[in-house]
Amino acid sequence: MKIGFIGDIVGKPGRLIIHKHLQLLREEYSLDLVIANAENASHGFGLTTKNCEELMGYGIDVMTGGNHSFDKKEIFTLFETHPVIRPMNYPVAAPGKGVYLIEIAGTKVAVLNLMGHYTMPLVDNPFTMITSVVASLKAEGIKHIIIDMHAEASSEKAALLHMLREDVSAILGTHTHVGTDDLQIKRGCCYVTDVGLTGCRDGVIGMDKEVPLRRFLTGIGGHHDIPDQCKAILQMILFELDASGRCIGAQKVKIYEDYPPVITQAWVE
Ligand SMILES: [Fe+2]
Repeated sequence: MKIGFIGDIVGKPGRLIIHKHLQLLREEYSLDLVIANAENASHGFGLTTKNCEELMGYGIDVMTGGNHSFDKKEIFTLFETHPVIRPMNYPVAAPGKGVYLIEIAGTKVAVLNLMGHYTMPLVDNPFTMITSVVASLKAEGIKHIIIDMHAEASSEKAALLHMLREDVSAILGTHTHVGTDDLQIKRGCCYVTDVGLTGCRDGVIGMDKEVPLRRFLTGIGGHHDIPDQCKAILQMILFELDASGRCIGAQKVKIYEDYPPVITQAWVE
């Protein structure tokens, strides 16, 4: 089973570069499933119904979220009607769910979304919660388990790898918007600390640089905006799982609009 995972899609530039390249990438790599973090897909904050359906039309099958999951009120309905999840460790009263089950050629695949603690909203302990959720999925016979760990702290993501590397197929980090150079397969688990954004690569984490610069220079903030024109990048992890849910190959593909693609292979341990 071949799977693609796209990091945080940031606004229209992110959606456009996916429109241009994803179907070709799906065909070139024979992808069976594409997952993306879409909490910033609608002008940087949240996900609208229109943009969700647009992304599904471009070839994304399942969408995950994070601290911006609830920025657009339409998400309350989307959780019920579309393949969209939010971190499972939001308080139990929050709408939506953190697990999405999908069947690929007769094999059940579980996509899980989790959020870290450091600088994030008040949520339940991700480490204790994920242990029991993974155990119950495995008790149901589900071996293909993919986690989007949405966290600021690289330490939280690395710790999760040590906790779950024997039990899950992949742990892919999101939220910082900056891709890390540590793609690896550890004991059959595909891992990267952060996939990196899909959107403008020449601003400040996908946003126009003016407001962040002013804030850092003067302490005066403002509304973050996404530029109309920018240099975009599409960043995707491609990985392959065997019948028992173990990762047997992984690479990262970076697609630029003004530069040849860059492909990096995972190291294997
Ligand atoms: Fe985030």
